[in-house]
Amino acid sequence: TIIKISDDALARAGGADALASAFEKKGFEVHRTSSWGMHWLEPLVEINGIGWGPVTLSRVDEIADGGADDICVGPIAAHPFITGQTRLTFARAGKTRPLSLEDYEASGGWSGLTRARQIGAERIVEEVTASGLRGRGGAGFPTGIKWKTVLGAPGPKKYIVCNADEGDSGTFADRMAMEGDPFALIEGMAIAGEAVGADQGYIYLRSEYPDAIRKLNAALKLCADIIAPFKCEVRVGAGAYVCGEETSLLNSLEGKRGEVRAKPPLPALEGFLGRPTVVNNVLSLAAVPHILMQGGAASYAERGMGRSKGTMPIQLAGNIKHGGLYEVAFGITLGELVNDIGGGTASGRPVKAVQVGGPLGAYIHPDQFDIPFDYEAFTAADALIGHAGVTVFDDTADMGEMAHFAMEFCSAESCGKCTPCRIGAVRGQEIIERIRSGGRKRDGVEMTPQIHNAPKNEGRSAAEEIGLLTDLCETMKFGSLCALGGFTPYPVMSALRNWPEDFVGDPAAIA
Ligand code: NAI
Ligand code: SF4
Repeated sequence: TIIKISDDALARAGGADALASAFEKKGFEVHRTSSWGMHWLEPLVEINGIGWGPVTLSRVDEIADGGADDICVGPIAAHPFITGQTRLTFARAGKTRPLSLEDYEASGGWSGLTRARQIGAERIVEEVTASGLRGRGGAGFPTGIKWKTVLGAPGPKKYIVCNADEGDSGTFADRMAMEGDPFALIEGMAIAGEAVGADQGYIYLRSEYPDAIRKLNAALKLCADIIAPFKCEVRVGAGAYVCGEETSLLNSLEGKRGEVRAKPPLPALEGFLGRPTVVNNVLSLAAVPHILMQGGAASYAERGMGRSKGTMPIQLAGNIKHGGLYEVAFGITLGELVNDIGGGTASGRPVKAVQVGGPLGAYIHPDQFDIPFDYEAFTAADALIGHAGVTVFDDTADMGEMAHFAMEFCSAESCGKCTPCRIGAVRGQEIIERIRSGGRKRDGVEMTPQIHNAPKNEGRSAAEEIGLLTDLCETMKFGSLCALGGFTPYPVMSALRNWPEDFVGDPAAIA
């Protein structure tokens, strides 16, 4: 009997390897597949389409005998978490063995690349443009336009760089795509190479993802002949959040310090080693084989809402009952995602806030849960979709502390190149500390009454301190060179706007 157990890092962290050996000893043929993305059920085991999860070693005998009904979830493909999704990028999730070329081909693998080779550069770019695909790393820039810029850029040598430095808190879609369907990413990169005339690709992959590094290296070896003459290599990052910013990523890839470069010039014109370079996120590239295989306009652009076309692999994380990967067409509301699909908080307490878009994303109040998942709708609400990480907090969260954390994160990860971010993030922490301690703290240190009365903050009321914080956030937003300093004001100001009581005892004092 075949039994499917995922070899995704999340399943492995939950004990999937030991389960696989135990079932092997029982005479099962174990297939290590990708994960379905139902994280609360991992490690999940599947026999003839029926699932059990989360499974511990003590339940192996019962499952082998067809028992353990209390943890049986029935037919996995019919689970409501799965049936509600439209899986295009994650079409193979839970179904195929990540490093099996046979599984990949049998599920339509390489047909996008084959078609791309038939239709040629201009038409590939047209197809991707018609699909409406926008950069899934966060900024949502149209992928087709980016490719067109690189295609039209003069130069004998061009590059495809995959940004796999998935640093946002609460995000894991890149990791799952790379671990679960590595050939799809490689195929997407090879198609990008065909589209712009590049024969070399690099995957800039964070060191925190050892399983993805191992699998992509193995996958690249297995498919080298298929993608030739396109060549691709994995380059491992060294742990800096800012290296997910494309220009600092390029510096790091060139062996330099991971410091942000000023734009222009755009990487599309002067990127890796000064040559025209496509820099795309894992999910953007992994969406491309489907688009080429099925036709961009027909299969992709018809889904979604407004200018947000196709599907988005949304990541449900934090304090949520049913966390995991939920790929769905744009337009679904935040309320549906958090309450209906996610089942509310794991703690069972009321949802207080949801942060969408990683540590630089706004904190959204449940009052705004009718916002549809759409780039423009989020921008209008002073929020961002980013890489579509949705992190849930219950009513025990202290939003003043979270605002402070945003500034602290920014100061820890700042590359130091520009003043609003390098210095602003430190001053921001101090102001928030003063507001929260009623003016008693500065630089994180409890002040003596004399210091408290020092000219620097003498007589400053909470309302005035908040005015200062607001000014600082404006300066950071509009004066920073990149999104790290520029977006830190989103979590800070949204926390202040929605939960002023978490900053000062009496919100009336700052009204
Ligand atoms: P951006 O708006 O400056 O650029 C977006 C992309 O479009 C870049 O690749 C840029 O080079 C390209 N581009 C712009 N104009 C172009 C043109 N005329 N022709 C060709 N290409 C063009 O945004 P940026 O700073 O690259 O990214 C910010 C986003 O990153 C934020 O929205 C944030 O959500 C996201 N982010 C994602 C993280 C993750 O872990 N995935 C972490 C932190 C931030
Ligand atoms: Fe560097 Fe921060 Fe300026 Fe970005 S905003 S360039 S991370 S100092």
